[in-house]
Amino acid sequence: MIKRVKIKRKIWYNKDTFGLEVYFPGINPLPGQFFQVRVGDSLDPFLNRPISVASYIRNRLLLIIRIVGKGTRILSEKEEGDDLLLLGPFGKGLRLKKKKSLLIAGGFGIAPLYFLAQKLFKSRVNFTFLYGTKTQDDLIMKQDISKIANRSIFVTESSGTKKMTVVSAIKNIDINAYKIAYACGPKLMLVELQKLNLPIPVYAFCEDFFGCGCGLCLGCAIMYKGEYKRICEDGPVFDLRGIDFNV
Ligand SMILES: Cc1cc2nc3c(=O)[nH]c(=O)nc-3n(C[C@H](O)[C@H](O)[C@H](O)COP(=O)(O)OP(=O)(O)OC[C@H]3O[C@@H](n4cnc5c(N)ncnc54)[C@H](O)[C@@H]3O)c2cc1C
Ligand code: FES
Repeated sequence: MIKRVKIKRKIWYNKDTFGLEVYFPGINPLPGQFFQVRVGDSLDPFLNRPISVASYIRNRLLLIIRIVGKGTRILSEKEEGDDLLLLGPFGKGLRLKKKKSLLIAGGFGIAPLYFLAQKLFKSRVNFTFLYGTKTQDDLIMKQDISKIANRSIFVTESSGTKKMTVVSAIKNIDINAYKIAYACGPKLMLVELQKLNLPIPVYAFCEDFFGCGCGLCLGCAIMYKGEYKRICEDGPVFDLRGIDFNV
């Protein structure tokens, strides 16, 4: 579906992370699904940018975007009342499992996991939200998370009492108290998480892969259970055990 929508609300979470809320009725996105956001009308940058659903409540869709390059910078210049062209939702997304869950967000992994957290909360599934970033300033939406999670743990690599990476923080959690885990963050975080070989299924939201986001470039291909899969078409959510990060 292609839709031109108006930006109803713009929120700055920190100096390089912002949210755009739009009114988009008639969709029912799943956690992990994403939209292709048209950056502008010119050919430079030509590609649309894949951005996950961070929230969808009462027909209001929230996209949380971190400025990393030209496309996201142009998007950051949009203001309330401006138009936004969205294509999607894309990706297979994730069907909800009503099992006690551990959500592990590293850095920018917060956006799709916040949407999953909303769904779990609505379905009254007990869950813990573990969220780690490099600095305190990078920790966004702490209050929103704390309101809906049964337990929330925030860690940063650079300051505070809980000075550690999100993967090392898992070592302090009784993992056997959970039935399932979901993780989203930089590729390196997923690699380290895989090495922990947790005794429960872990579903990885793979976003840290660069490409067209629409099935054309194969730039997002990963080796999954012995076969090449495209993150944008076949994912972006995969069982972490099945991903071969060395290929
Ligand atoms: C399925 C999916 C969902 C995503 N959801 C979100 C989201 O909710 N919010 C959000 O802020 N971002 C999300 N991203 C990442 C986002 O699409 C990119 O950051 C964006 O396309 C960068 O565009 P740009 O023009 O600003 O940067 P570019 O100028 O294209 O690139 C700038 C730098 O960032 C690197 N880069 C670009 N894209 C990625 C990427 N995906 N992973 C790692 N490095 C990258 C480039 O290699 C380059 O070094 C998602 C990506 C995918 C694949
Ligand atoms: S990002 Fe181009 S095929 Fe998936």
